[in-house]
Amino acid sequence: PRPILLTRHGESMDNVRGRIGGDTELRWKLFMFILRFWTVSTSGLWIQFKEKILEVILCKPGDNAVISVYSDTGEIYAKKLSNFVEKRLKSEKAASIWTSTLQRTILTASPIVGFPKIQWRALDEINAGVCDGMTYEEIKRNMPEEYQSRKKDKLRYRYPRGESYLDVIQRLEPVIIELERQRAPVVVISHQAVLRALYAYFADRPLKEIPHIEMPLHTIIEIQMGVTGVQEKRYKLMD
Ligand code: G3H
Repeated sequence: PRPILLTRHGESMDNVRGRIGGDTELRWKLFMFILRFWTVSTSGLWIQFKEKILEVILCKPGDNAVISVYSDTGEIYAKKLSNFVEKRLKSEKAASIWTSTLQRTILTASPIVGFPKIQWRALDEINAGVCDGMTYEEIKRNMPEEYQSRKKDKLRYRYPRGESYLDVIQRLEPVIIELERQRAPVVVISHQAVLRALYAYFADRPLKEIPHIEMPLHTIIEIQMGVTGVQEKRYKLMD
């Protein structure tokens, strides 16, 4: 049997701040881009002042001045994961690493060497639409009806201009077909909602449970698909 290893990306600063969605690294790149433009041929205090303004423009309230993709533990996890994968799949020449197209999974995969990496848009986190970048508290306060509808039926609830869990499950179909076809191990580095759906497929969990499946950070779920059925092992890499 060949294993499928499922894991969430290393903890991001958005995770720490309780913000859903986003693509932190991109925000950082945009910040640097504007900064470079804006500071051409000026120097000193004026630059510092402009940096502060940019921070205010680009960070949401509550963010710190330093924009980083990872929390400290998130960064350590990426390194631990790469050690684990390189050791676990040492003799598996044809193994591959699949990520989403979002920076936090690509960065989590980046320390892993020796295996091809494939980015799938279908592995991107559930699209929270107009709620992207908000905390659950903010949604509850500013959009109470949306909050209640999601609470009532998390599986079917679709974020305005975004997705529902059912949408995510549907878009995962080609990923699942490809995973089933693979003969070599695959490491899937993705996001909470997506991994809930993938895991449910392999662990044969009912549809209605999917949005509530526990999918902890910094943990690898190894699924072995053998002739006698599916076996599961968990590796918690951080305390
Ligand atoms: O939005 C991002 C989360 O990872 C999905 O979690 O469906 O429990 O809100 P949730």
